[in-house]
Amino acid sequence: MKFFIDTADLNEIRELATTGLLDGVTTNPSLIAKSGGNILEVIKEICDVVPGDVSAEVTATDFHTMLREGQKLAKLADNVVVKVPLTMDGLKTCKALSTDGTKVNVTLCFSAAQALLAAKAGATYISPFVGRLDDISIDGMGLIADIVQIYASYPALETEVLVASIRHPMHLVEAAKMGADVATLPPSVIRQLFKHPLTDSGLESFLKDWEGTGQSILEPNTSDEKRERAQ
Ligand code: G3P
Repeated sequence: MKFFIDTADLNEIRELATTGLLDGVTTNPSLIAKSGGNILEVIKEICDVVPGDVSAEVTATDFHTMLREGQKLAKLADNVVVKVPLTMDGLKTCKALSTDGTKVNVTLCFSAAQALLAAKAGATYISPFVGRLDDISIDGMGLIADIVQIYASYPALETEVLVASIRHPMHLVEAAKMGADVATLPPSVIRQLFKHPLTDSGLESFLKDWEGTGQSILEPNTSDEKRERAQ
């Protein structure tokens, strides 16, 4: 399963990229606005930090302008994926861009029927928003299960299921159990994934016991340690 980070905050991206666990980045107009930067500059910088797919979203709503915006965004770097909303014009744009060899992420997907349309339009990724469905008391993960099942029934459809609007680690775990291809995670959720209270307490007791042995795995090599040894 691929892990994307869902932010346009370059500091967060740089820091979490050091884990070696990031396969890509997703942004949207709200996240770009929050970053305070210029979309073209921000996307270019993100593409330099993360070699994997970086989604950059168009902001027009009509086919011709969306297509021009998408073509401009795609030229920013080889790893740009053009993100379009799941509207009729958005899917026309998806079809045109994907036919020309540009990767497209179709976003704002809230139904299995929409996901099927996006796949037929040649989307590289479909982004169903699980958190926003949960917010209105509709089962977001149920939608992921439906899309995974439908896509699996038609091997000719190559669109990957990119679970978006993830709010907590259980969304990720459920998505992984269903075989979703990608999860895009806010930085706060990525940090939560590492944490478990039993890991913290277990490590604390290991280190306490280890300290009692007076042993060291590495040769002491700092000047302080050398001085201590010489005394
Ligand atoms: O990038 C799209 C999506 O992940 C947005 O999430 O939390 O604004 O619903 P959210």
